[in-house]
Formats: sequence, structure tokens, C-alpha cells
Amino acid sequence: MTLGIRLLSPLLLSMVLMAIGQVFASDITDKDYDRASWHTIHNKPAIDNADDEQCLSCHQEIVSRKVLFESPAGVKASEVLAWYQTLTTYEGQQDTFHRRHLVTPLAQELMDLKCNTCHQGNDLREEATIPPDHSKQDKTLRKSVNPDVCLMCHGANPYKLMGLPKPWPESRALFQNDCLLCHINIRTNRHQVNFLKANAIEKAAKKDPDICYGCHGGRQWYRIPYPYPRHAWKGMSSTTPEWAKDRPTESEPRFRIENQQAAK
Ligand code: HEC
Ligand code: HEC
Ligand code: HEC
Ligand code: HEC
Ligand code: HEC
Repeated sequence: MTLGIRLLSPLLLSMVLMAIGQVFASDITDKDYDRASWHTIHNKPAIDNADDEQCLSCHQEIVSRKVLFESPAGVKASEVLAWYQTLTTYEGQQDTFHRRHLVTPLAQELMDLKCNTCHQGNDLREEATIPPDHSKQDKTLRKSVNPDVCLMCHGANPYKLMGLPKPWPESRALFQNDCLLCHINIRTNRHQVNFLKANAIEKAAKKDPDICYGCHGGRQWYRIPYPYPRHAWKGMSSTTPEWAKDRPTESEPRFRIENQQAAK
């Protein structure tokens, strides 16, 4: 009898331990990876009110991952700089796309981008295949980022519309290399959106005139400029120029400061 219990108890103990182990390990079973990858937070409407902490609880690598020190072929990251990475506004070592927009010193000083400023997911009822096609593993509906978001900061400088004789690199000397020469009075009601730090931008631009150009032509990835909303400003003329007739007069609703959406 006693022998039986002695033999049984290690078995019982290991069974209890296995059960406990299963409870703790349940976060990392295949089924749960699947469940996480289909988490409703990736799509509308939940993504609109997601805060960064929620996304980062599963995607920490987005802000921690670093670029390779050296490519597999042996080329060092420090030896392959793009032209803009040689400018004074580009600080530090090469870094990942996400870190350059979320955690580098310049990003933190001037911007307040959230995951959902860029990631908007999709409305699955509109864009997912019906019936669902499970052989599709690429999860592209979660990635959806509207390139118009990028265009706001990486578009061409609208020098013609501003009445400048030539593109900024050629005409900047005429204007003391300072956008504020005009913009101290023109379109002064600007950057009141939940992903920019409006006051910090003005402060930084007073010290370094290239700050403005940095988001309005200096880091241009597109051939076209962004058609910005045209907020009324103090001293604005009552006649609207032809090019501005169709412009909205307020920022996109989801970017407005008073809106929860995309805010922390
Ligand atoms: C519960 C955990 C969890 C949360 C919370 C979460 N995700 Fe995910 N996400 C996943 C998993 C798992 C995948 C699938 C990853 C894969 O297969 O590489 C995924 C996929 C993605 C992808 C596609 C990745 C690729 O390589 O194609 C994007 C983009 C993404 N998530 C963004 C977000 C954003 C933005 C948020 C916050 C609004 C968020 N996720 C919240 C777990 C999560
Ligand atoms: C400046 C816009 C922007 C911001 C802010 C942003 N992302 Fe992304 N993200 C992108 C773009 C663009 C891609 C590439 C999409 C593609 O490959 O189709 C991407 C890709 C991803 C991917 C899949 C590829 C990878 O690198 O693993 C994940 C996961 C992801 N983002 C999560 C996040 C999370 C979490 C946050 C907030 C902490 C965030 N993103 C903030 C624009 C952004
Ligand atoms: C609110 C303004 C803003 C938005 C929106 C924005 N960017 Fe940027 N982007 C910047 C700034 C500022 C830098 C420079 C950051 C630095 O040097 O630390 C930058 C840097 C970059 C770089 C250079 C990264 C490197 O390390 O060389 C790329 C590429 C880029 N952005 C692409 C994009 C794409 C694609 C999107 C849209 C998904 C986007 N950006 C949205 C402001 C923005
Ligand atoms: C000679 C004066 C002048 C200088 C210098 C100048 N701007 Fe402008 N800017 C204007 C005028 C005028 C407008 C149009 C005002 C209106 O909406 O009627 C304008 C409009 C803009 C717009 C809005 C464009 C749109 O499509 O709504 C941006 C952005 C802008 N300027 C950025 C800059 C930046 C950045 C610099 C420096 C690199 C700069 N400006 C230098 C006069 C100037
Ligand atoms: C970090 C990127 C960034 C920097 C730096 C920046 N801008 Fe902008 N600017 C933007 C974005 C994004 C918008 C559109 C915001 C919105 O949707 O209302 C904008 C809008 C504008 C507009 C349109 C204003 C309106 O009527 O709504 C003007 C003019 C402008 N910027 C001029 C400037 C000047 C001058 C500076 C330097 C003092 C500057 N920008 C610095 C990103 C930037």
C-alpha cells in the first residue's frame, strides 16, 4: 500500500506540474500565435483606438530591432550612406524605418507619430476574400498604410505655388535661407495635428532653417507635393487663389487634436 503511494506520488506530482506548465505555456502554442495574428486590433474599427502600448505588447521588435552592422556580403552599414544621411539633420548611425519615425532624437523632438497614424488596417468586410482563403499567409490586410500619409512629409516643395522664382535649393539664398521670412506671416495656423509637435517645430526652425525644408521637400520621395489643407490665418486675404479653390480648410478628422483617434 505505502509502496503504491510512493510510486504514485512522483507520477501525480509530474502530472500536476505538466498541468501548471500548460497554463503558463498557453500563450505560446501554435493556436495562440494564430489567434494573435488574427487579433481584431489589426483592423477597423478597433485599430482606430489602439494605443502604441497595445501594439508593442506583441510587436516590441518594431522599436528595438536594429539594422545589420554588416550585410551578408560584408558591406558595412556605416559605409553606405544615402545623400540625405550625410546632412547635419541626420543624426547618429543608420537606423530602421520605424525607429527613425518613432524613437530617434529628431523624431521625438518634432513628431508624435502613433502606430495607427500610419497603420489603418482594412475594413475586412470590404477587402477580405469571401469565403476566406486560408492559403493566403501574407497578412497584407494588416499592413495597409496609405501612402498619402508619407506624402505629407516626403512630398515635393511647392515652390511655384509660393511664388518662388526657382526650386528652393536655387532660390534659398534670395530669402536668407529662411522659410520663416515669409511664413512668420503666411499660413501661420499650421501643424495643429495629433502626430506633430507644433510648438517644438517652430522653436527648432528658429535655430535651424533647414528644419522646415526637412518635411517640405528636403526628404522628398515623391515627385508631387501634398495638397495641404488651407487653414484660415490672421491677415489672410479674402480672395482665394485659383489653386486653392478645392482645398479643405481643416486637417483630416482623424488627425485633429481634439480627436481620440490616433491619440495616446
Ligand atoms: C495579441 C498580439 C498582437 C497585437 C496586440 C497586435 N499584433 Fe500585429 N500581429 C500579431 C501577429 C502574431 C502577427 C503575424 C505576424 C507574422 O506572421 O509575421 C501580426 C501581424 C501584423 C502585421 C503584418 C506583419 C507582416 O510582416 O506582414 C502588422 C503590420 C501588424 N501586425 C501591426 C500591428 C499594429 C499596428 C498593432 C496595434 C494596432 C498590432 N499589430 C497589434 C500580433 C499582434
Ligand atoms: C511612419 C509610418 C509608420 C508608423 C508610425 C508605424 N509604422 Fe509599421 N510599417 C509602416 C510601413 C510603411 C510598413 C511596411 C508595410 C509593407 O511592407 O507593406 C510597416 C511595417 C510594419 C510591420 C511589418 C513589417 C516589420 O517591420 O516587421 C509591423 C509589425 C509594424 N509595421 C508595426 C508597427 C507598430 C507596432 C507601430 C507602432 C509602434 C508602427 N508599425 C508604426 C509604417 C509605419
Ligand atoms: C510627420 C512627418 C513624417 C511622416 C508622416 C513620414 N515621415 Fe518619413 N521621415 C520623417 C522625418 C522627420 C525623417 C528623418 C528622421 C531622422 O533623420 O531621424 C524621416 C525619414 C524617413 C526615411 C529615411 C530613413 C533613414 O534612416 O534613412 C524614409 C525612407 C522615410 N522617412 C519614409 C517614410 C514613409 C514610407 C512614410 C509613410 C509610411 C513616412 N516616411 C512618413 C518624417 C515623416
Ligand atoms: C517668398 C515667400 C515664401 C518663402 C520664402 C516660403 N514660402 Fe511657403 N508659401 C508662401 C506663399 C505665398 C504660400 C501660399 C499661401 C496661400 O495659401 O495663399 C506658401 C505656402 C506654403 C505651403 C502650403 C502649400 C500648399 O499646398 O498648401 C507650405 C507647406 C510652405 N509654404 C512651406 C514652405 C517652406 C518649407 C519654405 C522654406 C523651404 C517656404 N514655404 C518658403 C510663401 C513663401
Ligand atoms: C516633422 C515634419 C514637419 C516639419 C518639420 C514642418 N512641417 Fe509643415 N506640415 C507638416 C505636415 C504633416 C502638415 C500637414 C498637417 C495637416 O494635415 O494639417 C504641414 C503643413 C504645413 C503648412 C500648411 C498649413 C495649413 O494651412 O494647414 C505650411 C504652410 C507648413 N506646413 C509650413 C511649414 C514651415 C514654415 C515649417 C518650419 C517652421 C514646417 N512646415 C515644418 C509637416 C512638417
